[in-house]
Amino acid sequence: MTTKKVVFDTDPGIDDAMALLYLNACENINLLAITTILGNADIAQCTRNALILRDMFDIKVPVYRGAACHINGSEPEDYPDFVHGADGLGDVGLPEFEGDIEPENATTALIELSKKHAGELTLLAVGRLTNVALAVQQDPEFAGRLKEIIIMGGSAEHPGNVTPWAEANIIGDPEAAEVVFQTGTPLTMVGLDVTTQTRMSHEFLEPITRGLPFGDFILAINRTYADYHVRSENRHDFPVHDSSAIAFTTRPDLFGRVRGQLSCTLEGKERGRTVLVEDPSGPHEVCMEVDSEKMLEDYAASIRRFYHA
Ligand code: BDR
Ligand code: CA
Repeated sequence: MTTKKVVFDTDPGIDDAMALLYLNACENINLLAITTILGNADIAQCTRNALILRDMFDIKVPVYRGAACHINGSEPEDYPDFVHGADGLGDVGLPEFEGDIEPENATTALIELSKKHAGELTLLAVGRLTNVALAVQQDPEFAGRLKEIIIMGGSAEHPGNVTPWAEANIIGDPEAAEVVFQTGTPLTMVGLDVTTQTRMSHEFLEPITRGLPFGDFILAINRTYADYHVRSENRHDFPVHDSSAIAFTTRPDLFGRVRGQLSCTLEGKERGRTVLVEDPSGPHEVCMEVDSEKMLEDYAASIRRFYHA
């Protein structure tokens, strides 16, 4: 089994928390660092949440704080508290935690890690692509040193979840997405086309988290997430966004893909749309199919094997 060296760029976020829980448990992934980005809450809160989750799951990697605004200098008008709660983790009460951030910022850390692990690094980004784009802009060699980028974001055919065309991570910073797409670095988009096909529920999570020290916390944050989907979709189960990108990283065989060149629409009502021009020699892959049953089996088996050992 080949092991992937991974940096996880994240905006925790309830589904980011579920993704980190899974990522830490994957046998074929060597997690090197966590970098944070604004998105589901502001950068201070997302970074605090990353530190809380690292301590809770007993993950021994550094956390680097990322950008507080988008690459064009703008700041978000608001944050999706109606999905993730005002604190980004469901407003269920955040625990005390130990551990601190690193002195370097996320962009510097990404560049340094790309030098240390040149040609070997998988950059797994499940938030806005701001940190990645900043690294591209600061170091023209950065993107070429990465092995691959895997993102949760965007959509080829499925309607957007913020506008009819745009997904949240991409419309959060479309200019950043376009900078990243234009690098030509191999990139796989795990977007709404597949993340909406797999759904989790309390019934799925309860047996796999029962008895874990953080089991009640996981169930509580997902109750907040489920409540949003009851209000928005009238369903008690919910889509698996960020963990689908983890699943692709550990089990790419579960996904059907289309190859081509991606770009991001920057103007007009379709701003934030990801457009795929199919091309068998293109640098990008877009996930269009997933074996959801096997993916959930892998999620459950990984949690059981790692945390219940
Ligand atoms: C994406 O947006 C964020 O709110 C989630 O954490 C996920 O990364 C889903 O569109
Ligand atoms: Ca996210």
